[in-house]
Amino acid sequence: MSSIRLVTPIPGPKSRELTERRSQAVPRGVSQLTPIYVRRSEGALIEDVDGNQFIDFGGGIGCLNAGHRAPKVTQAIQDQTARHLHTCFMVTPYDGYVRLAERLNALAPGASPKKTLFVNSGAEAVENAVKIARAYTRRPAMICFEDAFHGRTMMTMSLTSKTHPYKAGFEPFPGDVYRIPFGYCYRCSYSLEYPQCGIKCAHALEDAFRRVVAAESVAAVIVEPVLGEGGFVAPPAEFLQVMQDICRKHGILLIADEIQTGFARTGKMFACEHYGIEPDLLLTAKTLGGGLPLAGVTGRTEIMDHTGPGSLGGTFGGNPLACEAALATIDTIEQEDLCGRAMRVGDRFRQRCNSWRRQFPMIGDVRGLGAMQAFELVRDQEKRIPADRETTQLIRHCYEHGLILVGAGTYGNVIRLLAPLVITNEQFEEGLDVIECGLEAVHEQEAARAGMA
Ligand SMILES: Cc1ncc(COP(=O)(O)O)c(C=O)c1O
Repeated sequence: MSSIRLVTPIPGPKSRELTERRSQAVPRGVSQLTPIYVRRSEGALIEDVDGNQFIDFGGGIGCLNAGHRAPKVTQAIQDQTARHLHTCFMVTPYDGYVRLAERLNALAPGASPKKTLFVNSGAEAVENAVKIARAYTRRPAMICFEDAFHGRTMMTMSLTSKTHPYKAGFEPFPGDVYRIPFGYCYRCSYSLEYPQCGIKCAHALEDAFRRVVAAESVAAVIVEPVLGEGGFVAPPAEFLQVMQDICRKHGILLIADEIQTGFARTGKMFACEHYGIEPDLLLTAKTLGGGLPLAGVTGRTEIMDHTGPGSLGGTFGGNPLACEAALATIDTIEQEDLCGRAMRVGDRFRQRCNSWRRQFPMIGDVRGLGAMQAFELVRDQEKRIPADRETTQLIRHCYEHGLILVGAGTYGNVIRLLAPLVITNEQFEEGLDVIECGLEAVHEQEAARAGMA
């Protein structure tokens, strides 16, 4: 039986009316990828206010690896509402925060003793990591990467790469931030080929210490083990290891931003585990809260304990509902083996993408790690001209036909898979079929456009 159920043209009348009201009430700066207003959701399905049912390949941008309203998560939230809501962990603490910190300290890669701080959003986790790294090392500079995304606050905009729409017009940014190339082989900044390149991009860090900023001025390197918003780019196997070695040699902290890669998305609890590294600070958010806002900074005890009482925290950080939801999310991931599921979902996605690639010259690259998979659309296989218009058309075709799909990439030409990992095989295949029809439709539209030109 089909999971997609469309009872009105998309968007339906109620969604259209809400879009109209939204345009009067909400600033344009908050983007709207689909014109669909949600009534309820479950597992990998979303029902809109007009009664249409969609398969969700976006998971609220990677927040729902354990599914919409995962049963254990909603139960934990309900149970907590019967006990207490906000009291502020800094005033009258509660055990959920402590239990979750213990859990993350044990899960974080590496054997060194760890501690965890909770805040409300990914960007806030990044901000705190920068504070902690600077205080601990007593050094000012931060190194980040081309195509990185770390958030929309002032410091995180400075660390983020993509100019439009994230940075342009919001200058000036906090300083002492330096950017080097990432291991993005399809669009190599040095126009080299892996492995003959000798991973020049990773060694660019050493070079930067001579040409850009002195190593002894650098507090930390912040890296997404697989680029998220930047287009789901998994670097070559050795890239992060080289980064870690160089950082250790110079007393620089390595911060892994696992806000999008974390919690089974890549087939391991954290993507760093694939690369065999132990970051000094590990940043989590998105799926951590199982649908509630929560983020964590986990790090080696000596680093996390460096700053004095009152220097870290915030009114709502580690909210009791969010902590209980997070504990239940981690239980769900472990008990339902969502890491194993991520590998299977990712393999299947890749298989289908590779067959589309033979059919549609528009697909330039297929890549990813576990279920963090993506394909990149180009206008010319050789020149790799980003097909951003076609990507937007494909996303639109998909939601009009019952599939929520999100794009990515500095050039806006990447389709990424962020489906809840609890998606059934039938729902997954149905979603993939919608993408295939969408690729056909976009291919035809573009052929017609070329014919008219
Ligand atoms: C890798 C990464 N870091 C940081 C952020 C910012 O998180 P938030 O939107 O919760 O502030 C995101 C959000 O997409 C992200 O993908």
